[in-house]
Amino acid sequence: MIVLKTPEEVEMMAQASKIVAEAHQVLKKEVRPGVTTLFLDSIAEEFIRGHGGVPAFKGYRNYPKTLCVAVNDEVVHGIPSNRILKEGDIIGLDLGAIVHGFYGDGAVTVPVGPVPDQVATLMRVTEEAMMKGIEQGVVGNRLSDISHAVQQHVEAHGFSVVRDFVGHGIGRQLHEEPQVPNYGRPGHGPRLQVGMVLAIEPMVNVGGYHVRVLDDQWTAVTQDGSLSAHFEHTIAIQPSGPPRILTAL
Ligand code: MF3
Ligand code: CO
Repeated sequence: MIVLKTPEEVEMMAQASKIVAEAHQVLKKEVRPGVTTLFLDSIAEEFIRGHGGVPAFKGYRNYPKTLCVAVNDEVVHGIPSNRILKEGDIIGLDLGAIVHGFYGDGAVTVPVGPVPDQVATLMRVTEEAMMKGIEQGVVGNRLSDISHAVQQHVEAHGFSVVRDFVGHGIGRQLHEEPQVPNYGRPGHGPRLQVGMVLAIEPMVNVGGYHVRVLDDQWTAVTQDGSLSAHFEHTIAIQPSGPPRILTAL
């Protein structure tokens, strides 16, 4: 069942999402060679709590931290550790916050210092694909119109879309129906309606789309060792026109 949100509920999700967006802004300034992913996690947790939110991922299915990181060939769900970032890495920063029981969820991928052109292109295309998907988040469209738009853009650039993880409805729970795949034929799935709130989150690999999960039971990496990027916004479907991006500042 897809739980529709009232305008008041969307406002609470907007508050949670704003904390996520602001935390990303702070984190981006702290990403540089020499810092550990654990340091970034501590900044994220302090920021969320300091702004009246609760970290959404900590404790979720026993996940131990506030932030999910994904360095280089890591796709999603890397656990912050003593790993030290070095110049030329890329890092995905995925985080969620809860305000008054409602969730906001967002992710960005950023470079650690300068990166080669193809790596910058991977990040740009992934963010663009997310935005192309979001543009399809219009009343009357079907869910897979979002999925198709994402896949189309990614594959036009020769990259591949991860299948094993998907976007999701979001509200009083981090993961609600419907699932939002980043691939598929257009014109399928539920029609989009006012009150739907969705997390759109393409994960894009330079090589093949297959991923595997490491022995820590969390970290997903590309099977072929190629680089991967991840962006995510929480969006609310509007009565008409494009969706409201709750995780944008
Ligand atoms: N943003 C991710 C998602 O939507 C991260 C959640 S996994 C967690 O699935 F366990 F860390 F919470
Ligand atoms: Co998500």
